[in-house]
Amino acid sequence: MARGVLKSLKTIFKTDVRVFVYPSSATGAWEAALSNTLSRADRVLLFGHGFFAVKWARVAERLGLEVDLVPADWRVGTDAGALRDRLAADVEREIKAVLVVHNETSTGVTTRIPPLREAMDEIGHPALLLVDAVSSLAATDLRHDEWGIDVTVSGSQKALMLPPGLSFTAVSEKALRASASSTLPRSYWDWGDMVRFNDKGFFPFTPATNLLFGLSEAAAMLEEEGLGQAFARHARHARATRHAVDAWGLENVALNEHEYSNAATSVFVPNGSDADHLRKVILDRFDMSLGKGLGQLEGRVFRIGHLGDLNDLTLAGTLAGVEMGLRAAGVPHRAGGAQIAFEFLADTPLESDG
Ligand SMILES: Cc1ncc(COP(=O)(O)O)c(C=O)c1O
Repeated sequence: MARGVLKSLKTIFKTDVRVFVYPSSATGAWEAALSNTLSRADRVLLFGHGFFAVKWARVAERLGLEVDLVPADWRVGTDAGALRDRLAADVEREIKAVLVVHNETSTGVTTRIPPLREAMDEIGHPALLLVDAVSSLAATDLRHDEWGIDVTVSGSQKALMLPPGLSFTAVSEKALRASASSTLPRSYWDWGDMVRFNDKGFFPFTPATNLLFGLSEAAAMLEEEGLGQAFARHARHARATRHAVDAWGLENVALNEHEYSNAATSVFVPNGSDADHLRKVILDRFDMSLGKGLGQLEGRVFRIGHLGDLNDLTLAGTLAGVEMGLRAAGVPHRAGGAQIAFEFLADTPLESDG
């Protein structure tokens, strides 16, 4: 079974190299990505476009890395031009890794990775590219090898449809080479041990066997559906959600259409309303838990998750619950947003990819 799930993960991450599995939350995989590839006082660069980017930066700091955390607008993703300028200014090539969150779960903004890789290649900067795909994997196209990513980090509890408890690092040959000479202390996270054991179909410590069985089934479900079809399903549900949000007259946190998230939509409540009160009303009245505003968005936004094992009726129920909650909590909005989404879902069947 271990060999089977490790093989399936390579298909899901679109890599021919390796994916390592840890019994941990995704925060562990953040640490694994850094501690295997970097050495004390190495410089890393990231743009603070959201709660999870800032949290990853804190992990890097705690590990003893020098972190260039560039303050950034939470309503947009990482800009290739800004990255190019930063890297071009690094004439001594002190920056050893660029960290990017593919889908910022706190804002519902998806950064496009290929332009970032192109920017790095254009100026020939040798930094590693480390990508957090915790809430994008299996919901949004992600191509570890083709996009030249060195480490892709993810977790089990999002679009892989599993309970929390597993995390992953997909690696490139360059990242594996970096791990041979990097000196940050690591034990549990060590890729060297993983390689030796995985090659024999085992793990260097007790694996979370129950979750591996689940992962095996999740991979089979995704294979049956087709990854492309799963992305299309997520994109369609995200569109239906945005139709409802627009019709309610509420504002999406994500500003740019090409960065809208397939996985989650973050929505501002109007000035004078409290998003956490709205969430409480919806939880108490309809037993539905919406994501809270994180960090600087606390109290100002609620988040609708539309990823994983979701179908039209699950989404319809979700949007109906939000609309009833807006009304019950007295949040100013236009009625009928859920109805617009229902019409979109009814009129726009999911095309089969054959
Ligand atoms: C984008 C992103 N990165 C990292 C994490 C941290 O994952 P975990 O809570 O599994 O450690 C999350 C959690 O939601 C996330 O959404």
